[in-house]
Amino acid sequence: MTSYENVHETLNGLIATEAVFMFKMYHRHFYVKGSHFFTLHKQFEELYEEAAETYDEFSERLLSIGGRPYSTMAQCLEHSTLEEHPQNKDVSDMDMVDGTVEDLRTITDDLMKVIAITGEAGDDTTQDMLIAKKHKVDKHIWMFEAFLGKIVRTEETMP
Ligand SMILES: [Fe+2]
Repeated sequence: MTSYENVHETLNGLIATEAVFMFKMYHRHFYVKGSHFFTLHKQFEELYEEAAETYDEFSERLLSIGGRPYSTMAQCLEHSTLEEHPQNKDVSDMDMVDGTVEDLRTITDDLMKVIAITGEAGDDTTQDMLIAKKHKVDKHIWMFEAFLGKIVRTEETMP
């Protein structure tokens, strides 16, 4: 596989994951319950909106460099590193936050891998886009961890 094919394939993996993450955030937005409802309902909405923007941005970048982004739900589910847990409609609000942090950590780990791959391929433009996204994801992790009364450890967000 050439370095560019590797960029295409791994960027497409991020695209699939972002689509699944968007649906997972809709799920949490709809089914969250409890005294933090208004805060979390709104916060989960911001995350599915950002995921939709990322899905669009990454897909159009992939098209710009000659790739073919995944564009069906079946493809996205097949190639995502995140899994759905559709049975979890009645999990507690704090478990939903825990699950969201876990998903965001998977996304930031994936981003770190593809940042390295784009670096090896000399694709600075795609790499810049991924670094900007990682900055946002790391900030979400910090905020949700703060909401849970935890602190972020350096080794969790740095290579
Ligand atoms: Fe809504």
